[in-house]
Amino acid sequence: MLNAAQTDTFGNIDALLDSYDVQDDPVLATHWKPIETNLWSRIENYAEEINNYGSVMSQHLIRTSAVGMQFITTELGFSERAGRNFYDANLLHDLGKTHPSYDPAIWQLPHRPTQEERQEKREHTQLGVELTDMAVSKSPEELLTHPHIQIVQSLQRLHHERMDGEGYEGLEASKLGKIIQAICIIDAFDGDMIHRPHQPERRSPASALERMKTGKKYGGAFHPEILQRFIDFQLAAR
Ligand SMILES: [Fe+2]
Ligand SMILES: [Fe+2]
Repeated sequence: MLNAAQTDTFGNIDALLDSYDVQDDPVLATHWKPIETNLWSRIENYAEEINNYGSVMSQHLIRTSAVGMQFITTELGFSERAGRNFYDANLLHDLGKTHPSYDPAIWQLPHRPTQEERQEKREHTQLGVELTDMAVSKSPEELLTHPHIQIVQSLQRLHHERMDGEGYEGLEASKLGKIIQAICIIDAFDGDMIHRPHQPERRSPASALERMKTGKKYGGAFHPEILQRFIDFQLAAR
């Protein structure tokens, strides 16, 4: 669970993201990097037997980190180091999918998920926080209280929030900072274009963006101004 210090900024990690630099932070270099390497290989090697799902997931995480870093620095006014910190922390946002309580088959269903399966899948946000808690549990206090751990866990827990309060945690729009609003958009965009066995046609970027703006599933989900900036940013890049 998020600790007491973390709950202060729960939902808004914007200022925290600029308070250190993952590139040359001695606490992270010594205590976090070895843990992160282990967690990353856990993701990459997850469920190879299920359509190479670990590889699909790791590519999604790398893409959303790279796009997010560029988007927040060029469009949302964040510094270069905040961008680097975001890139690194976001690589673990779907870690919870590797939790042992899952049957990996749930991530590549041949049909649309049932209500029950959907509910089960939603728990990956909280399970990511738990796996990270377990991974750092024997670490010194200076890592446990480091803002980077808080950012990793906030991204894990909040990357499926919605402005209308219908997200996985049901957080109010006013509680969501720009970084959380941005990752919710970037994650939905990338996820919408991933091939699913029950969806024979892959969506094009343009139709994924249009669906995020006007589709029934996403109506009211995203901050309208940040979404429009993301759409313009994507279209300009193509
Ligand atoms: Fe997710
Ligand atoms: Fe994701």
